[in-house]
Amino acid sequence: MDLDANAMKKLVAEEAVNRYVKDGMTVGLGTGSTAKFMIERIGQLVAEGYDLTCTATSVQSEELAKSLGVKVVDLDEVGTLDITIDGADEVDPGMQLIKGLGGALLREKIVAAATEKEIIVADQSKLVDKLGMRTPLPVEVLRFGHKHTKFALEQQGCKAELRMKNGEPFVTDGGNYIYDCKFEAIEKPFFLESRLDVIPGVVENGLFLNTAYDVLIAKSDGTVESMSDALIKKRSDVLNVIN
Ligand code: A5P
Repeated sequence: MDLDANAMKKLVAEEAVNRYVKDGMTVGLGTGSTAKFMIERIGQLVAEGYDLTCTATSVQSEELAKSLGVKVVDLDEVGTLDITIDGADEVDPGMQLIKGLGGALLREKIVAAATEKEIIVADQSKLVDKLGMRTPLPVEVLRFGHKHTKFALEQQGCKAELRMKNGEPFVTDGGNYIYDCKFEAIEKPFFLESRLDVIPGVVENGLFLNTAYDVLIAKSDGTVESMSDALIKKRSDVLNVIN
């Protein structure tokens, strides 16, 4: 089997729903081309009679879910979400992530913080040795004084580019701009996050650190690997050697 990118996205999204979503749960709906397949599978479960209460990380995901008959409520109408399934742009070997190329990072981070188990779905092309190697780091900023914010972002060692759409700056669901910050590689993501968080004008950054409960990776051979299972196995193999 040699799956293309779309087939891998569908495979991993459906696997995540089948593995983690149970009747009666509150579910966070991610954003992006992989999350789209997850929402379609959730729609099928609802059509089969599952009672799911969902909250969406973007207007786009909310509209898709509602069109499939899925109950979508505001995040503040639910307490803790049992589960959220979302995509990612980069995944490092320790399950640290870059998200936000789809422009929904702010809501995605708020929803992730309100979630017990954040499940990430991605295909093998998203795996990197170090964050920032392949994609820029999206940073959402206030429109007010954004060129000053850009200057401060570049002080952190990146080239920051204002995201554009149809010749105009791209505007997020929160009404803000995004700077895509290209680093050579992010050597110390926790340190970088602490620097970004104190820049006036930065609303949120696309580093999702210690957020994922599990990352499911689709491979072109048609298999899906759980990074969480793999890490647990690695640890127990080490313990077996020690003992
Ligand atoms: C949306 O803002 C992003 O965080 C997406 O989750 C991420 O870009 C993955 O999208 P794809 O599944 O389309 O690659």
